[in-house]
Amino acid sequence: MTSKPSYGPAAKLFHWATAGLLTMQVLVGWVMPDIERGMSPGAAMSLHLSIGTAILALVVARYVWRLARPVPLEPTAPGWQRGATEAVHLMLYGLILATTLTGWAYASMRGWPVTLLGVVPLPALVAEGSQLGRTVGHLHEPLVWALLTLMGAHIGAALWHRFVHRDGVLERMLPAGRRLTLRVLAKRA
Ligand code: HEM
Ligand code: HEM
Repeated sequence: MTSKPSYGPAAKLFHWATAGLLTMQVLVGWVMPDIERGMSPGAAMSLHLSIGTAILALVVARYVWRLARPVPLEPTAPGWQRGATEAVHLMLYGLILATTLTGWAYASMRGWPVTLLGVVPLPALVAEGSQLGRTVGHLHEPLVWALLTLMGAHIGAALWHRFVHRDGVLERMLPAGRRLTLRVLAKRA
C-alpha cells in the first residue's frame, strides 16, 4: 500500500467548514429581500453579514495555516494538472477574499455595522454613502458568480479524480473514516 501525502485534520476542518458556510451564504444571499435605499438589515441580512465575516476569518486563518504546513499536490499527477490545481486553489482563495471584502464595503457604504460572528465590531471599510463603496459594492454579485463557476469546476475536478481517474486525490481531503470505507469498497469491487 502506498502512503500518499494527505491533508491533516485541521486543513480538512478548514476546508469543509468553508465549503459548508459558503453554500449557506449563497443560499441566504439569494433568499434575503432586495435591498432598498435607507433600509436597515433584517434577520437574513444580519445572518449574511455574520456568516460572511466568519468565512473571511476562516479563509485568512486557513491560508496562514497553509503557509505553515504546506501539503504537496498529488505527486503522480502530470505537471500541467498540478499547475492547474494550484492555480484554481489560489484563485478560490483570491475570489473568496474579494467577495467578502466587496460585501463588507457594500455594507459599510449602506451605513450598516459589520461584526465578526455578530459579536466583535469591525471598522467600516468605506464612508457611509461613498461613491467608492457603491462602485466596489457593485462588484459583489459578479464576484459571487465567478466564485460559483470556479467552485463548480473545482468540485467537478474532484469528482473526476474519484470516479474517472480513481487516483485517490479526493480521499486526501476526506475524513479518515470515509477514506477507509472507500478503500474497503474499492477492494471488494
Ligand atoms: C464569499 C462570501 C459571500 C457570498 C458568497 C455572498 C453572496 C451574496 C449574494 C448571493 C448576494 C445577493 C446578490 C443579489 O442577488 O443581488 C449578496 C448580497 C449582499 N452581500 Fe454578500 N456574500 C458574501 C460575503 C459577504 C460579506 C462578508 C458581506 C459583508 C460583511 C456581504 C454583504 C452583502 C450585502 C450588503 C449584500 C446586499 C447588496 C445590496 O445592497 O444589494 N456579503 N451576497
Ligand atoms: C464548495 C466550496 C469549496 C471550496 C471554496 C473549496 C476550496 C478548496 C481549496 C482552496 C483547496 C486547496 C486546499 C489547500 O491546499 O489549501 C481545496 C482542496 C480540495 N478540495 Fe475543495 N473546495 C470546495 C468544495 C469541495 C468539494 C465539494 C469537494 C469534493 C467533492 C472538494 C474536494 C477537494 C479536494 C479533493 C482537494 C485537495 C485537492 C488536491 O490537493 O489535489 N472541495 N478546496
